[in-house]
Amino acid sequence: MASTEIVFIVTLVLYLVITRWKRRKEDSIIPEPEPKQPEWRDYSPLELREFNGVHRSLVFLAIKGTVYNVTLGSKFYGPKGPYSAFGGHDATRGLAKSSFDDEFIPDSEADDLDDWSDLNDEEKQTLDDWKAFFDQKYPAVGRLISNKEASQARTKMNNSPEKN
Ligand code: HEM
Repeated sequence: MASTEIVFIVTLVLYLVITRWKRRKEDSIIPEPEPKQPEWRDYSPLELREFNGVHRSLVFLAIKGTVYNVTLGSKFYGPKGPYSAFGGHDATRGLAKSSFDDEFIPDSEADDLDDWSDLNDEEKQTLDDWKAFFDQKYPAVGRLISNKEASQARTKMNNSPEKN
């Protein structure tokens, strides 16, 4: 075999090995999952509790009537996070009281929303500081409405003439 042929074959083999290696390296880079940004809407506590990183991959929580998409902070609010008690729930009272005890997480099945007007001034200040933090870090995705209001809205929609 002529030396030019050997050089050609060696170059070709090297080229194939390098391109295949590069392609395999690119394939192994998995893109970061993009958290979906849902459209603004109302959530009842019963709907909100689905967004806890278990039932749905998105994680939401509510503060003072606003629902935040905290999926980017899943390591905190997802099922294995230190603040998982807040994921899918109204975190208002817990944040104000600096506690994630069950007693400060309102029952998702209650008819009415938790009313935080009984908090003392210090707790209200703590709460407002946390709210400012969430406003800055996480997108708001909707309003928290009571289960009662949500079911009334559903009944109204089902009885609307356009539906029939
Ligand atoms: C032993 C007590 C605690 C320690 C050592 C602690 C530690 C931390 C640390 C290190 C961070 C920042 C993590 C980061 O940015 O990577 C953080 C964030 C946070 N902590 Fe705590 N914490 C404690 C108690 C609490 C309590 C009692 C609450 C409220 C009930 C709380 C709520 C939060 C929240 C909401 C964040 C923000 C997470 C985010 O970026 O979305 N922490 N904590």
